[in-house]
Amino acid sequence: MRSRILVLFAHPAFEKSRVHRELVKKVKHLAGVTFHDLYEEYPELDINVSKEQQLLLEHDIIVFQHPFYWYSAPAMIKQWMDLVLEHGWAYGKDGNALQGKQLLSVISAGGPREVYSATGRNRYTVHEFLRPFEQTALLCKMNYLPPFVIHGTHKMELHEMKQAALQYEGLLLAFHHGLLSQQELAQVDYLNDLNPIPQALKD
Ligand SMILES: Cc1cc2nc3c(=O)[nH]c(=O)nc-3n(C[C@H](O)[C@H](O)[C@H](O)COP(=O)(O)O)c2cc1C
Repeated sequence: MRSRILVLFAHPAFEKSRVHRELVKKVKHLAGVTFHDLYEEYPELDINVSKEQQLLLEHDIIVFQHPFYWYSAPAMIKQWMDLVLEHGWAYGKDGNALQGKQLLSVISAGGPREVYSATGRNRYTVHEFLRPFEQTALLCKMNYLPPFVIHGTHKMELHEMKQAALQYEGLLLAFHHGLLSQQELAQVDYLNDLNPIPQALKD
C-alpha cells in the first residue's frame, strides 16, 4: 500500500525564502503528498485543532518542514505541537491516534555541517538538537526518522538548492512507494547519508 505523506510547512518569512522556495516547488503538488502551509493557514497562530488531528489521521508519514531557527523550529511548530498533540489523543494511556506513524524533520540550516559537531562551534549535531522532536514522536508511539538537513544555506548557490530540492522530492517519492526499508533507514544519522540518496528525475 502507498504511504500518504503530510507535509506541515512552517516558514514565517516565506516571501524572503531561497531554500524552501525551491523545496516547496518540488513537493507541493507531488502525488501522495498533502502540502499544508501552517503560516498561510494560521497567520495569527489560531490553529484549528480538530482539523489538524483529522489531517494526521489521514496520513502515514508526517513531515515537519521548516528552517532551523535558534537551534529549533519557528514558533508555529511549537504552537502546533502544544495544541494538536493532546493528552488522551496523541499520548497517554488511551492516546493512540498516532501509533505506528512516522515523523520526519526536513530542515534547512544556515551553518555548514562541520560546525554542527562535538568539536565544532555549535557543539552538537542538528540531529542532537532535534531530540525534543524525537522524544515527542516516541511519546506519541510514532517512529522518528533520521532528519533530512540542508546545511550551509547562507553560502549556497541556486543550483545547489535545486539539487537539494530534487533529493527531497526523490525521498518523498521513495517513502510514498515504500522503497526505503526500516533497516536501511536505521543505518544513517541523516537521510542525506543514504547511499544513494533517492533523487527524482530532473525535469
Ligand atoms: C530567526 C532566525 C534564527 C536562525 N537560527 C539559526 C540557527 O540556530 N542555526 C542555523 O544554522 N541557522 C539559523 N538561521 C538561518 C536559517 O536557518 C536560514 O536562513 C534558512 O534555513 C534559510 O532558508 P530559507 O532561504 O528558506 O529562508 C536562523 C535564521 C533566522 C531568521
